[in-house]
Amino acid sequence: LFAGPVDFIKGVVAMDGLPPADRPEICFAGRSNVGKSSLINALTGRKGLARASNTPGRTQEINYFGLGERAYLVDLPGYGFAKAPLPVVKRWQELLKAYLAGRPTLRRAFCLIDSRHGIKPVDHEIMTLLDRSAVPFQVVMTKADKLGPNAIRPVLDQVEEELQKHPAAYPELVVTSSDKGQGIATLRAIIAGLD
Ligand code: GTP
Ligand code: MG
Repeated sequence: LFAGPVDFIKGVVAMDGLPPADRPEICFAGRSNVGKSSLINALTGRKGLARASNTPGRTQEINYFGLGERAYLVDLPGYGFAKAPLPVVKRWQELLKAYLAGRPTLRRAFCLIDSRHGIKPVDHEIMTLLDRSAVPFQVVMTKADKLGPNAIRPVLDQVEEELQKHPAAYPELVVTSSDKGQGIATLRAIIAGLD
């Protein structure tokens, strides 16, 4: 699935701008700055494909990427704190929620959690929305390179415990570093298996 071409399809700012629901798609959700866009770049092996930056609120549209014609990878705006005007942030948060609750071809949502921080109340809120919409989701831990193998253990315990409250959650976590490549092949295999 990742061997072929990857193309930017479009940036979507409203639900009626979504491309036709004609193929499976998977999306990447998470707090602003957690590493969603960087993960898409690591998965596709295309550094500048999804725009990443250190400014929370970088991605402000729903960005569609095509894996050939077989599937879409969807980069979502972050939730939580963002460096952008409040009315603008509100608009894209509403879009994010509408998308997560109402996309029929969404096969799996990957919920990204910073390996240093664990699940926060805003993450819990999004996961509850996914439960209610019956969208299966799986947690991907990001930025694992920022802490040692022992330091991550208590965070993984917290996440695993939290996931027991969410019926739509897969119990297995994927620990990744987009910078170092950790977990990227594993995640590619999971995505290819969904096709
Ligand atoms: P928004 O679009 O603002 O919601 O952010 P995002 O979740 O798309 O995050 P983005 O990919 O833009 O990354 C945010 C910052 O974290 C950037 O400075 C990245 O370089 C950095 N970053 C992302 N992934 C990793 C990682 O695996 N390791 C390290 N050390 N830094 C990372
Ligand atoms: Mg982004």
